[in-house]
Amino acid sequence: MTTAEVATMQEEVRALAAERNAVILAHNYQVPEVQDVADYVGDSLGLSREAAATDAETIVFCGVHFMAETAAILSPEKTVLIPDLDAGCSLAATITADQLRAWKAEHPGAVVVSYVNTTAEVKAETDYCCTSGNAKAVIEAIPEDQEILFLPDMYLGLWLEQVTGRTLRIWMGECHVHAGIRPQDIVRVQAEAPDAEFLVHPECGCASQCMAFGNENTHILSTEGMVRFAKTSPKQRFIVATETGILHRLRKEAPEKRFEALSESAICRYMKMITLPKLRDSLRDGKHVVTVPAEIAERARGAIDRMVAIS
Ligand code: 13P
Ligand code: SF4
Repeated sequence: MTTAEVATMQEEVRALAAERNAVILAHNYQVPEVQDVADYVGDSLGLSREAAATDAETIVFCGVHFMAETAAILSPEKTVLIPDLDAGCSLAATITADQLRAWKAEHPGAVVVSYVNTTAEVKAETDYCCTSGNAKAVIEAIPEDQEILFLPDMYLGLWLEQVTGRTLRIWMGECHVHAGIRPQDIVRVQAEAPDAEFLVHPECGCASQCMAFGNENTHILSTEGMVRFAKTSPKQRFIVATETGILHRLRKEAPEKRFEALSESAICRYMKMITLPKLRDSLRDGKHVVTVPAEIAERARGAIDRMVAIS
């Protein structure tokens, strides 16, 4: 699409959103033209908070399916739309509710902490949800002698063990985009860019090892944490280890600074399934409605409410 075509379609999207009394929420990994037309762009925690607080009748969720499901659970009276139903998450797909029930049966009495990248059925079996933005605070809110089952991301789990000093039982799931970012990638670029700050998402395969290196230029952050950090840091150069969609947000919010991807191939094909034409069609045709069965939503809501409350 040309710049002019993008601008015209963005106007169409804004007009349709106003007509439908819809709010457009977009994750930091969305394509630039979708981020730029959204009412709110943020990380999973921020998006959940926005979904819970909005007065709009319709929420159009430009992100992946579990995020839209979370919005539907938090705002059951609202219509939640996702522009492409195939926008899934390889990490959420690593554990089913049956697998979690079997794991819980092996550890009766354990508290279940699930990363928000899980299906609604898995959340219904969960005590606390968390995101990368508040995972440490959620673990610290649980009594120290309590056995914890943490799922589904093993790298986030290993990083949490390091920052909280707790021992967790960790599900061996991973995100295919972040698992590919390895410690040797960081070490190589650190040598090439000694003046840069490294912003690393805790889902990365290198996150816990990065901590172990104790390098003061390396910061493990959620996507929103990266934006906050870069805006307030006195430094000029940042190497970013997460999905490359975040670069648009960073460059927009801190235009005077320099941002580079640690890995240009860190692209989530699910996030990229949401395009501007699909967003327009979603608003125009009221598709695709995301619903969660009431009984599952009821059981999942407590865990999500605890997540939204802890920061
Ligand atoms: P954030 O909550 O940090 O934005 O991460 C969400 C996600 O899907 C990471 O891959
Ligand atoms: Fe899921 Fe990974 Fe894509 Fe995030 S980047 S939505 S964890 S597949």
